[in-house]
Amino acid sequence: MSQSLFLLPGDGIGTEIMAEVEKLIAWTNETGLTDFIIDRGLAGGVAYDAHGVAITDGDVTKALAADAVLFGAVGGPKWDDVPYDQRPEAALLRLRKELAVFANLRPAICYPALADSSSLKRELVEGLDILIVRELTGGVYFGEPKTITELGNGQKRAIDTQVYESYEIDRIARVAFDLARTRGSRVHSADKKNVMKSGVLWDEVVKGVAKDYPDVALEHILADNAAMQLVRTPKQFDVMVTDNLFGDILSDVAAMLTGSLGMLPSASLGSPDPVTGKRKAFYEPVHGSAPDIMGKGIANPIAMIASFAMALRYSFNMLELADRVENAIADVLEDGLRTADIAQGDDRVIGTQEMGAAILAKLKA
Ligand code: NAI
Ligand code: MG
Repeated sequence: MSQSLFLLPGDGIGTEIMAEVEKLIAWTNETGLTDFIIDRGLAGGVAYDAHGVAITDGDVTKALAADAVLFGAVGGPKWDDVPYDQRPEAALLRLRKELAVFANLRPAICYPALADSSSLKRELVEGLDILIVRELTGGVYFGEPKTITELGNGQKRAIDTQVYESYEIDRIARVAFDLARTRGSRVHSADKKNVMKSGVLWDEVVKGVAKDYPDVALEHILADNAAMQLVRTPKQFDVMVTDNLFGDILSDVAAMLTGSLGMLPSASLGSPDPVTGKRKAFYEPVHGSAPDIMGKGIANPIAMIASFAMALRYSFNMLELADRVENAIADVLEDGLRTADIAQGDDRVIGTQEMGAAILAKLKA
């Protein structure tokens, strides 16, 4: 049965790295490993140039109808002066909202070949494979009231509000426990229940969900300690589930254990459809549109290709093919092939297309 992929390459290097994924898809389709029907849309500055909006209603509709969305990156100085609500990033915010993707998956994988570019010593990170599951649509970034008021004495007061309802914690916890079952069967839940009511509820709900997963070990960790432990002994973690704010910070900490921004994929998942069980899903590299290197053919396509591997794994349950793509990435790195962002010393540096081709060649082998 065919499955639909909606591609939104976006701006800057987004188009360059998506082109390499398209070559992989062309091959998996050709060989019958997949039967993807591909459609393409415009998001970000390119959509603004063509239609005067960051993304058209038509492309949002296509994203909602697709089995998975692959997104490159948006933004760039060219669009610094467009109206705020149509700035390139507005496409991303609208898509996340309409797809209602509340679970943000950020793997931090340290390929042995790149262990020396980590911020930590090789032995601490070699073989690292952590999955941070961040709640993406609730918490202090969205809670009301959210205000700045003049107090009349030259002082101002800013208020952000952390709000979580139990259903929001329950559904993100289930995502984390389900994922843990496919990996090391361990979940760390990070909150600040020692000083925050939202942390108390977080812990209570996560512990309740854990009862449905007797085969998965749950450990509680205070979020500040989690930050410390991530840079002390990161390999103790498998899956970590946490709220929007702590997840933002902890996933960036974990990212830097792995080397370059050009290596980091992500997935954002919504609730399962009550009829089909399928989740809306959005896959994108963590990095942006890198205007400083756009058009030079030197961008690292690995984060985008690894995002496609996540789509194979989480939207299509093609676990073997996902493994093959990830192994192809590891093999190419093992061979010493490097784009400029991950090169060190006298490594031979290759461009975007050569890296894409090398990964495809490994996949074919
Ligand atoms: P950025 O991630 O685009 O670039 C940061 C640095 O990392 C740059 O030096 C860039 O050349 C390098 N880099 C990033 N990805 C790379 C790759 N695949 N290969 C090699 N080098 C890579 O972040 P920056 O510079 O802060 O933002 C640039 C634009 O991207 C802005 O307009 C920003 O708003 C947008 N942005 C978009 C995101 C998205 O679409 N999800 C996320 C972050 C930023
Ligand atoms: Mg962040």
